[in-house]
Amino acid sequence: MRRSQIVGCGSYLPERIVTNDELAKRVDTSDEWIAERTGIRQRHVAAEGEFTSHLATRAAERALAAANLPISDLDLIVLATATPDETFPATATRVQQALGMTRGAAFDVGAVCSGFIYAMAVADNFLKCGQAKTALVIGAETFSRILDWTDRSTCVLFGDGAGAVVLRAGEGVGDSTDRGILTTKIHSDGRHHDLLFANGGPSTTQTAGVVKMEGRKVFKHAIEKLTEVVGESLAEVGLPASAIDWLVPHQANRRIIDGAAQKLALPPERVVITVDRHANTSAASVPLALAEAVGDGRIRPGHLVLMEAMGSGFTWGAALARM
Ligand code: UT7
Repeated sequence: MRRSQIVGCGSYLPERIVTNDELAKRVDTSDEWIAERTGIRQRHVAAEGEFTSHLATRAAERALAAANLPISDLDLIVLATATPDETFPATATRVQQALGMTRGAAFDVGAVCSGFIYAMAVADNFLKCGQAKTALVIGAETFSRILDWTDRSTCVLFGDGAGAVVLRAGEGVGDSTDRGILTTKIHSDGRHHDLLFANGGPSTTQTAGVVKMEGRKVFKHAIEKLTEVVGESLAEVGLPASAIDWLVPHQANRRIIDGAAQKLALPPERVVITVDRHANTSAASVPLALAEAVGDGRIRPGHLVLMEAMGSGFTWGAALARM
C-alpha cells in the first residue's frame, strides 16, 4: 500500500520580534492580559519587502535539505496561505520559480488556519493515487499585513512565519505501524463566515481587508470541532488516544491547546507548544511546530504524531502520521 512519508521538515521566521510590551505601547493592552488569555509572549513580523513567498521559500529550502533531495525530484508544491503575495498568480508558483523547479505543478490552497492540514490532505491524495511521487507542502503567512493595528482584540494574536514538509511516496503493509500519513480528515462549514474573516478582497472591496473576529465564539467552536475531528481520525485508524506520541496542534491559543490535550488525556510534555514565541501564524503554525520538534529531536522516527487545526470558514481538520 502506498503511503506519503514525511522525509524532511523546515521552517523560517522573520528576524524581527515584537513583544507584548511593544504592542502595549500601541493599543490598550498588557503583557499580562495577552499572556494569561492566550499564552502569547511575542511574535515575529516580516520586514518591509519580505513577502509570504520569501518566508515559504526559506522554509522549503530547509525542508528539502533535511530530506536530502534535489529540486529535480519535486513533482508538486501545495502551499497553504491566506496572505498571498498577489491576488494572482498562486504564491506557490513564486516559490517554484525561486527554487528553480521548472516542471510539475504548484498551486495554493486556501483554508486559513487549517490550511496546512488541507494542503497535506491534497498532497497525500496525489501521492497515494500515484499522480506525484514527491511533494512539498508549505504553510506560509504574513498576517501582520492584514491586521488592524488599532484593534486590540485581533492585532495581539497573530504573527508571520512559514513551515514546510517534503512528502515522498513509499510502500508499506498498510497498517498503523507503517511509516507515513495514516489519515487526513478535513471539514468546513460556511455558515460561520461572519465569526472570523478578512473584510476585503479583489472582488468585493479591491483591498485585502483586515482580520475581524468574534474571539469568544470562535474559541467555543474550536474546542468542539477539534475534539470531533481528532476522534474521527483515531477511530479510522483504530488507535486509542494513548497511542499518540506527540500532539502538534494549531497554535492559536494556549487554552485551546490545553483543552484539546486534556480531552485526549495527553500530558503536557507530549504537546508541542510554540504559541508563546510565534503567536498564531495561521497556516504556518503546525509545520513550524512540527519542524521545531523534529529539529530538536523530540519527535523521532516511529513516533505517532497528531496534527490538528481549526480556522476561518469555518474549516477544521486533522492528520495522523507515523514518522
Ligand atoms: O486561528 C483561528 C482560530 N482562532 C482562534 O482560535 C481564536 C479563538 N479565540 C480566542 O483565542 C480568545 O477568544 C481571545 C484570545 C481572542 C479572546 O480571549 P477571551 O478570553 O475570549 O476574551 P474576550 O474576547 O471575551 O474579551 C474579554 C475582555 C473584553 O473586555 P470586557 O468586554 O470584558 O470589558 C475585551 O474587550 O477582554 C478585552 N480585551 C482585551 N483586553 C486587553 C480584548 N482584547 C484585549 C487585549 N488586551 N488585547
